[in-house]
Amino acid sequence: MRVDKFLSSMKFCTRKQAKSFLEKHEFMIDDKRILAQNHSFDPNLEKVYIDKTYIYYEFPIHLMLNKPKGYVSANKDEMFPCVTDLIKEPYQRFDFSIAGRLDVDTEGLLILTTDGKFLHEITHPNYHLPKVYEAHLDQPFYHEAELLSGVTILDGKQNPYVAKALEIKTNEHIVYITIDEGKFHQVKRMFSSVGYKVLYLKRIKIGKLSLGDLKLGDCQKIERRDLVD
Ligand code: URA
Repeated sequence: MRVDKFLSSMKFCTRKQAKSFLEKHEFMIDDKRILAQNHSFDPNLEKVYIDKTYIYYEFPIHLMLNKPKGYVSANKDEMFPCVTDLIKEPYQRFDFSIAGRLDVDTEGLLILTTDGKFLHEITHPNYHLPKVYEAHLDQPFYHEAELLSGVTILDGKQNPYVAKALEIKTNEHIVYITIDEGKFHQVKRMFSSVGYKVLYLKRIKIGKLSLGDLKLGDCQKIERRDLVD
């Protein structure tokens, strides 16, 4: 990677400002001071220090996050805080994409990644990655068979669409539902199509990865193998 690309992707300055940034700051790769913005290096193998401070870099980085209610699954929003505001050091300088958004009032497992290929792999419908949600309903649940055989809902563009649950476990008002798609408000719409209102929704598992005891609002680095085989 070129030094100017490194500086801009890590939000120290724009590519245009790189030349003057390198003059004003001591940019070291391992033990060599670098002044040329077009110098190429491998930030996964070589260590960067700016003004004697080590700059953590890694690619790819995948995070799991326990999203609280009230946060939007976005990088920028006018009204609500964003899930990316919850990212802690040393990951704050990286640009994360959100894999499989959750509604603002939904809690639970969200995956963020710096790797476009991995994002595609876990969000593309062809991969059928199962996701498990815990839904708290307004009344005891008796419509398992309908959801397992498929119900017609409207997608985000108001097109009718058959959605199926892969598995359902019920405990009166609380239902654990597994789906392998991610249409707009899919879980709420599936329950609504058989007469139930979802009062609380939490995603607890994606692929092989469970939310476990990750605290609400916390994030943790994961590896690809934690999620998929
Ligand atoms: N289905 C929903 O209805 N909402 C979510 O946030 C996720 C899945």
